[in-house]
Amino acid sequence: MSQPRLLILGPPGAGKGTQSANIADEYDIAHITTGDALRANKDMDISDMDTEYDTPRAYMEAGDLVPDAVVNAIVDEALNSADGFVLDGYPRNLDQAKELEGMTDLDAILSLDVSREELIDRLTGRRVCDDCGANYHVEFNQPDTAGICDDCGGDLIQREDDNEAPVRNRLDVFDENTAPVIDHYGDHDGFVAIDGEQTPDEVWADIDGAIVAHAD
Ligand code: AP5
Repeated sequence: MSQPRLLILGPPGAGKGTQSANIADEYDIAHITTGDALRANKDMDISDMDTEYDTPRAYMEAGDLVPDAVVNAIVDEALNSADGFVLDGYPRNLDQAKELEGMTDLDAILSLDVSREELIDRLTGRRVCDDCGANYHVEFNQPDTAGICDDCGGDLIQREDDNEAPVRNRLDVFDENTAPVIDHYGDHDGFVAIDGEQTPDEVWADIDGAIVAHAD
């Protein structure tokens, strides 16, 4: 099998980050995530791109989309240096999807379905390691010691945009902008819809099967 080129889609909290980590490990490919790239560069100066705000921070903390020009440039650069990859968090609207078509072909498109109420529980209960970014949940995926990362001993924190008001806004932004992207890819040969409400292991089994079926 050549290195697979994969896209993972789904609403905020569907498990894209959790499952992308499994995919990247299993297939030894790059995990390209616009959310992490933007979080690492929240205060970069984007004023020369004629944007409403001068940095990504204000968009992200409200749960709004960062302007396309910023995100397209991040993905273009990351794809240029990747052989196989799993792309997570992009495209988030139809203009980004069109842009991606000019950058690369895709072997499989994995779309995670999860209900809105479950997404709110997952996101408001999520905790992330401030050092290594590992994901936990106050109920579904607790660390061995409360507040401490099992992997690296770092502090577990709540993301600013995981408070309830930004979570609800992120879900509305998804319905308006990103749900049409999922419809857009529905006819692609490699499109696979996956029940994201199963346990993480069950979701992973479905994803792995879909990759084996669609990658060369
Ligand atoms: P981003 O970081 O991409 O956030 P998101 O899409 O909102 O996705 P999340 O990371 O919140 O959720 P996830 O699906 O990865 O779920 P996870 O695996 O963590 O984007 C953040 C912001 O950046 C955006 O709001 C925007 O401002 C900006 N941005 C990013 N990309 C952009 C773009 N292309 N254009 C413009 N702006 C952009 O799981 C969630 C929780 O559930 C965890 O606690 C986990 O442990 C738990 N969990 C996972 N799977 C299961 C399961 N099967 N059962 C029970 N619990 C589970």
